[in-house]
Amino acid sequence: MKSIPMRFVIAVASLAPWAALAADPGNGGRIYAMHCIGCHGVGGHSVMPNAPNFARNEGLMQPDVVLAESIRRGKNIMPAFLGILREQEIRDVVVYLRTLSR
Ligand code: HEC
Repeated sequence: MKSIPMRFVIAVASLAPWAALAADPGNGGRIYAMHCIGCHGVGGHSVMPNAPNFARNEGLMQPDVVLAESIRRGKNIMPAFLGILREQEIRDVVVYLRTLSR
């Protein structure tokens, strides 16, 4: 086996956590349009009774990990997205939600 220079291995390993954490609000917007807009509405202006209005920051005063968990598991009439969205997609949609009330 050809050996890989150690410096290269360290450089790649130290970049990996950042790659995993970086969330893309543009992609989040596409996911939102596909899966969330029917209840939470265009720009977060909720179109369904009881669905938080993200444009008014409703439901968003919680840490990202809590929002991600609600999206994974669903909440009351909101369906669970575990198995439908990948972890990265959930992160993307969470950062997108953060853009709606600004
Ligand atoms: C079928 C309608 C529906 C769809 C589709 C839907 N939601 Fe919801 N969502 C709701 C309702 C209703 C609530 C309020 C739940 C409650 O607190 O009873 C909610 C709550 C939330 C909350 C607040 C959760 C909390 O912890 O308080 C977030 C965040 C959220 N939705 C994000 C999303 C995202 C992101 C999507 C798309 C991937 C999505 N929702 C799709 C209806 C929906």
